[in-house]
Amino acid sequence: MGPLTGRIRVPGDKSISHRSIMFGALAVGETRVTGLLEGEDVMATAAAMRAMGASIERSGDEWRICGVGVGGLLQPQAALDMGNSGTSTRLLMGLVATHAITATFTGDASLSKRPMGRVIDPLSLMGASFEASPGGTLPLMVRGATTAVPIEYRLPVASAQVKSAVLLAGLNTPGITRVIEPIATRDHSERMLRGFGAELEIEEVDGERIIFIRGEADLQPQVIEVPGDPSSAAFFIVAALVTEGSDLVIENVGLNPTRAGLVEVLRQMGGRIEEFDRREIGGEPVADLRVTYSRLTGIDVDPAIAPSMIDEFPVLFVAAALADGTTTTSGLEELRVKESDRLDVMASALRAAGADLDEEEDGLVIRGTGGVPLRGTANARVKTHLDHRIAMSMAIAGLASRDGVLIDDTAPIRTSFPNFEALLAEATS
Ligand code: S3P
Repeated sequence: MGPLTGRIRVPGDKSISHRSIMFGALAVGETRVTGLLEGEDVMATAAAMRAMGASIERSGDEWRICGVGVGGLLQPQAALDMGNSGTSTRLLMGLVATHAITATFTGDASLSKRPMGRVIDPLSLMGASFEASPGGTLPLMVRGATTAVPIEYRLPVASAQVKSAVLLAGLNTPGITRVIEPIATRDHSERMLRGFGAELEIEEVDGERIIFIRGEADLQPQVIEVPGDPSSAAFFIVAALVTEGSDLVIENVGLNPTRAGLVEVLRQMGGRIEEFDRREIGGEPVADLRVTYSRLTGIDVDPAIAPSMIDEFPVLFVAAALADGTTTTSGLEELRVKESDRLDVMASALRAAGADLDEEEDGLVIRGTGGVPLRGTANARVKTHLDHRIAMSMAIAGLASRDGVLIDDTAPIRTSFPNFEALLAEATS
């Protein structure tokens, strides 16, 4: 395949798309959303909100959501099928937890292995009760509190999903719910809840963020434009950096500082990534990015940057496998509980493609080829374990390999980036 050139746009941000549907479904009146990601994960959120009373329809390029109001969610008549989506599950568990309804959550084989105890703990303190499968996994049933209690909760893991679950539970809880975040994570919930008119304050004390939300909130319908997803742009950024002759513009990429870690790390490695036309869309910073082929050099990645690029490590590992010298990553235990164990699965997949690396408990140490293409896997199929980001990362590794990389299953890509293959074909044609 040729170098990546021209101008492309990636689909809407997944985190912001989920939230625009959930918050629209809780506002009274009609919220209109453009640029919504129409991947399976977001559609799982939409189906669940419909099952709890909201009306959500596509009309031309726009999605129209008629909400039921905070406190107005209806009891779903059947189990809510969350598919592959951890974000849908954990945030909706938060919503159900403080409505006087009962809901059962189910998911695919990947989601059914993921830990839900991290949201069950705070939501139980607020008065919800749970019947979960062994190990605190799906399928699980949530019985929402009839009278919810506001809590102050210090996050034991740096997780935007846990933070958001508590904030969403706080929406229908009398009084003020507080979340203390020792390490900042993506703040889309906070930005968007304020946009919808919730009373939400943020204080910084001794380097920690304290978020206060007042329930029982009244949310006002909004008109939302969803920016392009930096986590989807990541695959094209790395592909352009490692493919000789590439000069690619990716338009309209969300660059919220709590999401922009990959761009910073790739620049530290020598990647040429320029920003143009910085602007704000839907309360989020956005820019066009121009990415040109660059010789990358291995670095020690500062673990403090991990939360702002938590979904981008699989594709960073691909960049590292092609860089000059060694890249060391650490502090990445959370990657073991994503859609797959992303440390173990990427270590095996990259090794199968000829990369030289060690897997540590909390990161990978990767000795790059210095720009020489990887061998590739020829006819051996890389196992992606129902993980969209492993499939896309290994597709990019395939571009930068001699024999290509064969992937066992590309279907999971539809969860977050339905036109990934078409866009890659367009950029490389
Ligand atoms: C997300 C938060 C992150 C991220 C996920 C989306 C969100 O998960 O990995 O893809 O939209 O809040 P954690 O909260 O588990 O870190």
